[in-house]
Amino acid sequence: MSEYILGIETSCDETAAAIIKDGREIVANVVASQIESHKRFGGVVPEIASRHHVEQITHVLEETFEKAELTMDDIDAVAVTEGPGLVGALLVGVNTAKALAFAHHKPLIGVHHIAGHIYANRLVQEFDFPLLALVVSGGHTELILMKEHGSFQIIGETRDDAAGEAYDKVARTLKLPYPGGPKIDQLAQDGQSVIDFPRAWLEEGSYDFSFSGLKSAVINTLHNAEQRGEQYLQEDIAASFQASVVEVLVEKTYRAAKNHGVKQVIVAGGVAANKGLRKAMEEKFAGEASALMFPPISLCTDNAAIIAAAGSVAYNQGHRAGWDLNANPGLDL
Ligand code: KG4
Ligand code: ZN
Repeated sequence: MSEYILGIETSCDETAAAIIKDGREIVANVVASQIESHKRFGGVVPEIASRHHVEQITHVLEETFEKAELTMDDIDAVAVTEGPGLVGALLVGVNTAKALAFAHHKPLIGVHHIAGHIYANRLVQEFDFPLLALVVSGGHTELILMKEHGSFQIIGETRDDAAGEAYDKVARTLKLPYPGGPKIDQLAQDGQSVIDFPRAWLEEGSYDFSFSGLKSAVINTLHNAEQRGEQYLQEDIAASFQASVVEVLVEKTYRAAKNHGVKQVIVAGGVAANKGLRKAMEEKFAGEASALMFPPISLCTDNAAIIAAAGSVAYNQGHRAGWDLNANPGLDL
């Protein structure tokens, strides 16, 4: 008999529900984005996010079951993002999942948001361990070594801004709308990397990242140019900034993959949608022993199919959350 997992995700600014079959097949995947509501504030406003989640969650769930042509009776377990994220936003998903699971006598599974981003790749291809995941999103930049399902060893992480955060902050400096990552990516395609922005390699052998110096360098360069009455093309700033981010991400991932002899390298999170990063990773790993995987663009940013995918593995490993499951904004992986 098939296994159906319902996934619910409300950690940031997408209200999302999905049903997946046998851990790897998407049956329905519904995302209600709030980007338009947050745009005029230049970023996500937590209070607005929570309110929208409350308004949207029932509709999103109804649409998910309609699309899947299934009911709660068909569901084997309810998986929900318990953290990290915005506490008020997370609470909407967690309480909805608890209510549904309790009322229908179904097991409840708590999922770490980053595990979801990583398991996006398993909706495309089965994992082969040991595996290295580069997680690059609005809130995270991490290199994670996995030796088996559900085991996550963080071998490198950002010491300041996340990669996506750096994209969004530089975009704001360039007066581009939120979220700035996709816009910078687009501009970079038409620009030249004419400015040699710093690359934060940190100590010899470190897999950690740092993007705040780069962000400041971009801001200072723009400021100094303005004072001299000069102007750079937005495309060139975008291309130069992206070249710096991508070079460090690719090099550190490559070194970690070599040193740990991994069979697969997967890239996950919102910034995995970046065209420059995809191209540079493909070039670097061409002909290498580690197979490279990216999720399709639609599964890079937040959605609930990835939460259900991680939830399915946890469910089969026997993990169950209690009725005291709570939103945990600072949850460790
Ligand atoms: O994974 P995600 O949807 O949310 C978090 O869990 O944070 O990632 C959102 C982040 C934002 O910072 C956004 O600007 C960035 O991913 N992003 C991109 C691209 N698409 C989304 N950054 C660079 N290039 C892109 N194409
Ligand atoms: Zn995310």
